[in-house]
Amino acid sequence: MPKRTTGRYERTTVGDEDVAAFIPFPLPPAKPPLALGPLAERLRTAEQALARLELAGEMVPSLDGFLYAFVRKEAVISSQIEGTQATLVDLLAFEAEGDGEHEAARDADVEEVCNYVDALNFAREQLANPKGLPLSIRLLNETHRRLLRGVRGADRLPGEVRSTQNWIGGSRPGNARYVPPPAHALGEALGVLETYMHAKPELPPLVRAGLLHVQFETIHPYLDGNGRIGRLLVTLLLEHWRLLTKPLLYLSLFFKRHREEYYRRLDRVRRDGDWEGWLDYFLDGVATIAEEAVTSARELFALVATDRARLLASDGVSVLALRLFELLPRRPIVTVASVMTLVETTKPTAGRAIEQLVNAGVLVETTGRRRDRSYVYRAYLDRLRVGTELGQMEGSGSVPSTGNVVTDARRRTRRGRNQG
Ligand SMILES: Nc1ncnc2c1ncn2[C@@H]1O[C@H](COP(=O)(O)OP(=O)(O)O)[C@@H](O)[C@H]1O
Ligand SMILES: [Mg+2]
Repeated sequence: MPKRTTGRYERTTVGDEDVAAFIPFPLPPAKPPLALGPLAERLRTAEQALARLELAGEMVPSLDGFLYAFVRKEAVISSQIEGTQATLVDLLAFEAEGDGEHEAARDADVEEVCNYVDALNFAREQLANPKGLPLSIRLLNETHRRLLRGVRGADRLPGEVRSTQNWIGGSRPGNARYVPPPAHALGEALGVLETYMHAKPELPPLVRAGLLHVQFETIHPYLDGNGRIGRLLVTLLLEHWRLLTKPLLYLSLFFKRHREEYYRRLDRVRRDGDWEGWLDYFLDGVATIAEEAVTSARELFALVATDRARLLASDGVSVLALRLFELLPRRPIVTVASVMTLVETTKPTAGRAIEQLVNAGVLVETTGRRRDRSYVYRAYLDRLRVGTELGQMEGSGSVPSTGNVVTDARRRTRRGRNQG
């Protein structure tokens, strides 16, 4: 017996197939209403963990560097869940090249992650600006436009709600794991979703954020990018509702770690009305990652403090090298060219500053080449990148990605590559 019914099915024709598309009922869950009692402990733990992360953020004097790094971590992992083959190291190496004189050539995977960072920054700025877009579907559309900018996204209607049927998992709608609402139902479904974002809060904000993520994935309003925008929405909501005023929570790491369960929980909401099961998972994720982020921020901070003290105490470390050191939390990978730009200096001076940090054991040369060398603040990056490498995903073979007539052929090609 299902717990509750969360929507209705509508027969629709895609190609020559007749399928049942799902149209969710508006939030909040009803008949019966959400049973939060058994989740009270989970909720409290998650809220407390977020409060600790907020506090950790306030206590770090050079928060910018960490924030910069944590946002990139989330961007990389959220993109990896969808099959992007770029790591945090790839992204930071790309940014190091971009800091130099030449605009580096972006590979499509790194571009996707850069777009994610741009999209998040755009949305946060809009919300922070009284004249910017409010929390709305339009804001999400504009964010989506930035996310899918460039080579790979162009034919997936950046910034636009789809006008055709899509499906999740499976090679065609007929064997899909899930068929989201037909295009004609999207306007209303999204309108109601937006209303709920602004409705008088009757449930705790963290719970509402969890509900909204699922509802967004269930509606699946875009041809592609639904997972990433839906996870980005959680980040925005946490900030907007003041649960965490800086995007320090890389929640996607939890979804990546427990990916099969992520998809299963989404399915169960629709199939069995199991919103409580989803919330149990979601709140566990928030608590777990918030705790980890606190620990990570603390370790990174301690590491930087220790290295700084060591540098200050050692002879032969120039003011410029110290300035470079302070920039490393943001740019843990550098090249001579990037240092020239970062600290606005000449090539020989940049080279000397790097050399001093190498001698002090802070930077490590990683290429083994004589030219085009690249230097890494390794102790820092090794802590930061935990969870961002490829191939650490549960059930890597079965990404139930979104299909539609436009992108399906291409997706099969990408999958082929992923297996290689
Ligand atoms: N069974 C499901 N029901 C609802 N949503 C799902 C299901 N399985 C996966 N999803 C969501 O769909 C996302 C993938 O959709 P997609 O449009 O390809 O997003 P992106 O390009 O960001 O990959 C997953 O990350 C997940 O959030
Ligand atoms: Mg996708």
